[in-house]
Amino acid sequence: MKDYYIGIMSGTSVDGIDAGLYDFSGQNIQVIDFYYQPFTQKIKQNIHHLCRNPQSISLLDYGQLDTQLGKLYAEACLNLLQQAKVNAQDIKAIGNHGQTLYHSPTAQQPFTIQIGDANIISQITGITTITDFRRRDIAAGGQGAPLVPAFHQAMFQSDRENRVIINIGGVANLSILPKDAQKDILGFDTGPGNTLMDYWISTHKNCTYDKNGEWAATGNIQPELLKQLKEEPYFSNPPPKSTGTEFFSANWLTKKLATLPAYPAEDIQRTLCQLTAETIAEAIQKFAPETDQVFLCGGGTHNHTLFKALEQLLSPPIASTETQGIHPDQVEAMAFAWLAKRTLQGLTGNLPATTGAKQAVILGGIYQA
Ligand SMILES: Nc1ncnc2c1ncn2[C@@H]1O[C@H](COP(=O)(O)OP(=O)(O)O)[C@@H](O)[C@H]1O
Ligand SMILES: [Mg+2]
Repeated sequence: MKDYYIGIMSGTSVDGIDAGLYDFSGQNIQVIDFYYQPFTQKIKQNIHHLCRNPQSISLLDYGQLDTQLGKLYAEACLNLLQQAKVNAQDIKAIGNHGQTLYHSPTAQQPFTIQIGDANIISQITGITTITDFRRRDIAAGGQGAPLVPAFHQAMFQSDRENRVIINIGGVANLSILPKDAQKDILGFDTGPGNTLMDYWISTHKNCTYDKNGEWAATGNIQPELLKQLKEEPYFSNPPPKSTGTEFFSANWLTKKLATLPAYPAEDIQRTLCQLTAETIAEAIQKFAPETDQVFLCGGGTHNHTLFKALEQLLSPPIASTETQGIHPDQVEAMAFAWLAKRTLQGLTGNLPATTGAKQAVILGGIYQA
């Protein structure tokens, strides 16, 4: 008897939609199929426009993008099903993260906004859709993020070694999985993942990301720039903590650069890569000094310069989650399929020790087929 769920992720990198179809009926989750739909330039611009102009946002633009993304997520699901030759009736639910526009968990009135209307996804696909996972955790006093550590625990915790899972999307987050199952799982956003590197290369070259970290590899680390960037208090703040691209933004980088001499553009790319690597490595050294093994997932796994920098900074071995049977580009989509299943079963999805919530809660809103 199949137990099929779809997970959809479109993260802060604003690269596109990851949609995975998974079977939960066996002891291990089975990947049935995966479909990636890159965003068009126009959609990317619309998302960036709303994310970067929160003070002057137009309700018209917001409402239309919410609808447009709902349609795109639905289309991605239908394409995935067609590719997999599976019928919509065979899917229990879709778990959709949604597109984050703004994440502000420590404001006086804390909030986080993910859009992509689930009414539309449910209507078009005929599949029950679960979305809006983060706000229930915020309502329970948490950061609303990161939510993937519970999934990382379920997939990757081992009683033989202390493990850390690092997901390098637009923002980087990690999960600390002690071999002693009695200990709490710690997880938090370490800071920027790819977002600043993506921004910097897109303003200097005709591409949206630094393929394999090749451009960064031609530059040198600028110590004074690195020092200034690392002085940001977020990096030394204790967890629970989470952040977003509204904070580690083009504006944030521009302000830091304005106080320093002009550096070659490739040196800045290399230094931004080092910033991501050092802030991750220092978080591990501080909060998980006894780590035996590190696993990487998210698009940043493919950045060789970043991977090498992490290897130089960390003593435990580093490998892609692929060595554990999950492709690094699929971990987050699978996590939201897993969270959707939890929600449908009435099970909690957040880890209070990680998000800072007062209690574990059932996450998300259910939009019945
Ligand atoms: N081959 C590659 N080389 C370097 N970076 C890559 C590569 N493939 C993907 N990336 C990076 O990963 C990002 C997408 O990662 P992803 O895990 O989808 O993040 P998010 O969850 O924020 O959308 C891209 O924007 C890019 O920065
Ligand atoms: Mg992505």
